[in-house]
Amino acid sequence: MALGSADSLPARVGVLGGGRMGAGIAHAFLLAGAEVVVVERDREAADAARIRVRGSLAKSADRGDADESAQELRAVFAVDYAAFAGCGLVVEAVPEDFALKSAALHAVEEQLDDGAWLATNTSSLSVDRLAADLKRPENFCGLHFFNPVPASRLVELVLGSRTSDALAESAQEWIAALGKAAVVVRDAPGFTSSRLGVALALEAMRMVEDGVASAEDIDTAMTLGYRHPTGPLRTTDLVGLDVRLGIAEYLHSMLGDRFEPPQILRDKVARGELGRKTGQGFFSYE
Ligand SMILES: NC(=O)c1ccc[n+]([C@@H]2O[C@H](COP(=O)([O-])OP(=O)(O)OC[C@H]3O[C@@H](n4cnc5c(N)ncnc54)[C@H](O)[C@@H]3O)[C@@H](O)[C@H]2O)c1
Repeated sequence: MALGSADSLPARVGVLGGGRMGAGIAHAFLLAGAEVVVVERDREAADAARIRVRGSLAKSADRGDADESAQELRAVFAVDYAAFAGCGLVVEAVPEDFALKSAALHAVEEQLDDGAWLATNTSSLSVDRLAADLKRPENFCGLHFFNPVPASRLVELVLGSRTSDALAESAQEWIAALGKAAVVVRDAPGFTSSRLGVALALEAMRMVEDGVASAEDIDTAMTLGYRHPTGPLRTTDLVGLDVRLGIAEYLHSMLGDRFEPPQILRDKVARGELGRKTGQGFFSYE
């Protein structure tokens, strides 16, 4: 991983949507030394975002990574997109809905100087489609952070067909300045992580379905044989079977039959066996 300098970061960074991901992204930029503006849809949501970021910073302070109060001073929580004025970069992290994201990106762009950068944290939508209505598509890319952002070292940098070389270069420097590793991906369904992760999980599910081995043994084959930290089926339980089914259906529609969701996945989702969050998935939880 390249060494990143805080000097490469824009001094003022905006985050649209302070939910699970937005709060983590705000945290990461604050720790790296940027001033951060979080914009939410209303005051209540902005207050909730402040609590989320504060909680996340408090955890870092406990680990000795940061002085919580010093970091929080440089965060602003607003409800008006005009608060993004003067930001060198805004990262959009509103829910995964094309119409919502497209309208929000358009509205944010209106507030930015011509030289400012804009990014989306989408986990599946096409960066090129989201760029289609932007005035400056060359200033736009995907920055796909992982959950939980403070603990995850990976960011997928997704380059649209019109993303400028200057942005591609700067974004890699920012990611390094956040202490994370960038993988550079062309705009393609599922980027790298979802596409490969889901491919492995679907094959593991088909093996359970065909009686090749138990879920436990399939996961053990990957953890001990391939040194994956978690097996594909436990990972599916953690992500949520419904979430994985949604991604598989999308990849099936975009990339063909190899992503067709197995019947066992559809059946489990229909029975409400969604993984950890319901206590039952491919494994049982207390
Ligand atoms: N949760 C994950 O594991 C994960 C991982 C990687 C990427 N993502 C992507 O990150 C994005 C956000 O996901 P999340 O899990 O943080 O969702 P979330 O629901 O926790 O947060 C979304 C936030 O956006 C706010 N919001 C909604 N409409 C808005 C608007 N018009 N203006 C300003 N704020 C608005 C909501 O109030 C909410 O706080 C999605 O695109 C998702 O696919 C999620």
